[in-house]
Amino acid sequence: MMNSVLMLVRLLILCLVLAAKATGDDQLVYSGFTGANLTLDGAATVTPDGLLELTNGTDQQKGHAFYPTPLRFAGGSPGGGTVRSFSASFVFAIQSIYTDLSAHGMAFVVASSKNFSSALPGQLLGLTDIQNNGNGSNHFFAVELDTIQNKEFDDLNANHAGANVNGLRSLQSYYAGYFDDEDGSFHNLSLISREAMQVWVDYDHRTAQITVTMAPLKVGRPVRPLFTTTYNLTTAVTDVAYVGFSSATGTINVRHYVLGWSFAMNGPAPAIDIAKLPKLPRMGPKPRSKVLDIVLPIASGAFVLALGAIVLLVLRRRFRYAELREDWEVEFGPQRFSYKDLYRATEGFSDTHLLGIGGFGRVYRGTLLVSKVEVAVKKVAHDSKQGIKEFISEVVSIGRLQHSNLAPLLGYCRRRGELFLVYEYMPNGSVDKYLHRREGKPILNWAQRWHIIKGIASCLVYLHEEWEKVVIHRDIKASNVVLDGDMNGRLGDFGLARLYDHDADPQTTHVVGTIGYLAPELGHTSKATPLTDVFAFGVFILEVTCGQRPVNPNLEDSQVLLVESVLEQWNKGSLLDAVDKQLGGNYNADEACLALKLGLLCSHPFANARPTMRQVMQYLDRDMPLPEMTPTDLSFQMMTIMQNEGFDQFVMTYPSSTASVDSTSVLTVGR
Ligand SMILES: Nc1ncnc2c1ncn2[C@@H]1O[C@H](COP(=O)(O)OP(=O)(O)OP(=O)(O)O)[C@@H](O)[C@H]1O
Ligand SMILES: *[C@@H]1O[C@H](CO)[C@@H](O)[C@H](O)[C@H]1NC(C)=O
Ligand SMILES: *[C@@H]1O[C@H](CO)[C@@H](O)[C@H](O)[C@H]1NC(C)=O
Ligand SMILES: *[C@@H]1O[C@H](CO)[C@@H](O)[C@H](O)[C@H]1NC(C)=O
Ligand SMILES: *[C@@H]1O[C@H](CO)[C@@H](O)[C@H](O)[C@H]1NC(C)=O
Ligand SMILES: *[C@@H]1O[C@H](CO)[C@@H](O)[C@H](O)[C@H]1NC(C)=O
Ligand SMILES: *[C@@H]1O[C@H](CO)[C@@H](O)[C@H](O)[C@H]1NC(C)=O
Ligand SMILES: [Mg+2]
Repeated sequence: MMNSVLMLVRLLILCLVLAAKATGDDQLVYSGFTGANLTLDGAATVTPDGLLELTNGTDQQKGHAFYPTPLRFAGGSPGGGTVRSFSASFVFAIQSIYTDLSAHGMAFVVASSKNFSSALPGQLLGLTDIQNNGNGSNHFFAVELDTIQNKEFDDLNANHAGANVNGLRSLQSYYAGYFDDEDGSFHNLSLISREAMQVWVDYDHRTAQITVTMAPLKVGRPVRPLFTTTYNLTTAVTDVAYVGFSSATGTINVRHYVLGWSFAMNGPAPAIDIAKLPKLPRMGPKPRSKVLDIVLPIASGAFVLALGAIVLLVLRRRFRYAELREDWEVEFGPQRFSYKDLYRATEGFSDTHLLGIGGFGRVYRGTLLVSKVEVAVKKVAHDSKQGIKEFISEVVSIGRLQHSNLAPLLGYCRRRGELFLVYEYMPNGSVDKYLHRREGKPILNWAQRWHIIKGIASCLVYLHEEWEKVVIHRDIKASNVVLDGDMNGRLGDFGLARLYDHDADPQTTHVVGTIGYLAPELGHTSKATPLTDVFAFGVFILEVTCGQRPVNPNLEDSQVLLVESVLEQWNKGSLLDAVDKQLGGNYNADEACLALKLGLLCSHPFANARPTMRQVMQYLDRDMPLPEMTPTDLSFQMMTIMQNEGFDQFVMTYPSSTASVDSTSVLTVGR
């Protein structure tokens, strides 16, 4: 009797225990996994922050985490053999190093075993292997969050949730997202957005309905599930089974996280305390895109191409800026300009910078980039190397000349076939433009003209007598006298100038200069002397005073040469009629008379009859009176010389006043 009572009590207790289990007090809830007792394998760990990290960024890894003890899903009493209702909820996040690509995914799993050692990573999500995919003996139910589309499993896309039994081909799946409670509209969610999202999985044993719902953390559980499907899990899930997670990577560095998890048998899953969830690691601000990985080879190809192009460009630049530089030029360093600087200063010697075209080349205006100095660059073609060294030496010597009526020669540059002479830019241009009404320049008044004449005279005294060497300009003319900001005349264009030592006897072989300014003796001696400069200066005085070109291109006029017409006026006793009509009589008659007579004297056909520049200066300063002379003497001599030398014919052949002698001769040095 006592025994039977004891038996009864034991039975009762057993029944009560079983009933307790059956009524569904199997619950678990993790709001963060710090200290959680989970069975982990593969790459799975619980981070110090309390995140359940299923994969750790390593390629082709799987990771599993299971509640250590199995739960009773079926059997016992009173449920019989059918699998009970259950509910699970979890918060997850997928952090790929790329923003637009990840692999492969993760799943909530109910499985007969925690031993997934034979399962494979990649698209199999660590749930099974290829042979056993879908095999009824697998005994698992899973809700996958799949970030890769596998056609072999009929995947919907690369961002879906699915309910699976025993394999990777889903019973049902849907685009990751949720239906808005307000308007029922569907919102896509990106599984790989790196944001935490929550999933609810419910199984109702009465209807065998599986319900999967998901939403962003802040939204909460939507009323309408993402999808439902009917499957009697009794055939799949064993009586006792483990619950947990499986995840796998492919070839992408990605971490699959579970932040919180709850589960309940026969009832709703307990709420996860969202506020207590661990923080996700911050990803780098600008993760490299996988697309970049694909694009990178193309990009690097393009880069190589670009590099090639750059190299080509650099080479072209090199070629473009190529210069000719020789050892002997080293000492001229300071006067040597780089072609690149000149090229940039003149914007590639563009026509907009063209100041004028002379007999030897073009002159461009430019501004040196660094020093902001305004320059006039004369570009002269030259082919021969012959004599260039001497010529450059001269250019550099000339650069050392200093006189307030000189347009400074700053330096030179040289490249194949071209020579550049760099002068200081004179803002007011050359005198000829003011005399012959070109480029809209006004007429110079008498005081300006007189000032210019005296200025150039003093400059020539300096060149001929005051500097360490005798410098012969050789090309004195109105277009080579430029005006600075204060309308001071400055002698420029030393491109043709020659130097020779005071005692040396130069042997010039080529006539260089401009018709009309050439002293007659140059026709047979070809030897430039200070007195040939005086001749040209005389012509210059006449040109400035009369406002007429030295050679009148109008052949119908009887007087071809300005000298002749001035002489004729003088003969007629009306010398001052030769003065520029454009002055309208507003001039100092004494000065004008002196200028005309001095001009004639300087351009005397006999070199010996010409004054030196020092004397010219004295006449101009009226320190000395002009020697007595009659127009008839001059006239007679002039005609004789002209006819004897055949100079008339020369003039006739080249009627243009600006015609110059062959430009190649500019570099031929006579020493
Ligand atoms: N330093 C300068 N500053 C401003 N303008 C200048 C300067 N040097 C030359 N020029 C301008 O450039 C023009 C062309 O000069 P260029 O010396 O080539 O010709 P040219 O003097 O007429 O003949 P030539 O070649 O016989 O000297 C000149 O008319 C002058 O107006
Ligand atoms: C974890 O759970 C297993 C199975 O219930 C148990 O054997 C083990 O002692 C537990 N470990 C800890 C640290 O609680
Ligand atoms: C990731 O986990 C695997 C397997 O445990 C391990 O071999 C690897 O070193 C881990 N990698 C990192 C980056 O922690
Ligand atoms: C897991 O299963 C494999 C066979 O699939 C077996 O070799 C291994 O011993 C099992 N591991 C455990 C811990 O039971
Ligand atoms: C399913 O797996 C079992 C056990 O591993 C095996 O015996 C059976 O042949 C498999 N079935 C198929 C269709 O592969
Ligand atoms: C959601 O994603 C699917 C699949 O990428 C796409 O077809 C659908 O147009 C998207 N819907 C919205 C509202 O963006
Ligand atoms: C599920 O299958 C089991 C066993 O076959 C059965 O007892 C149960 O009624 C089924 N449930 C539903 C809802 O069909
Ligand atoms: Mg000139």
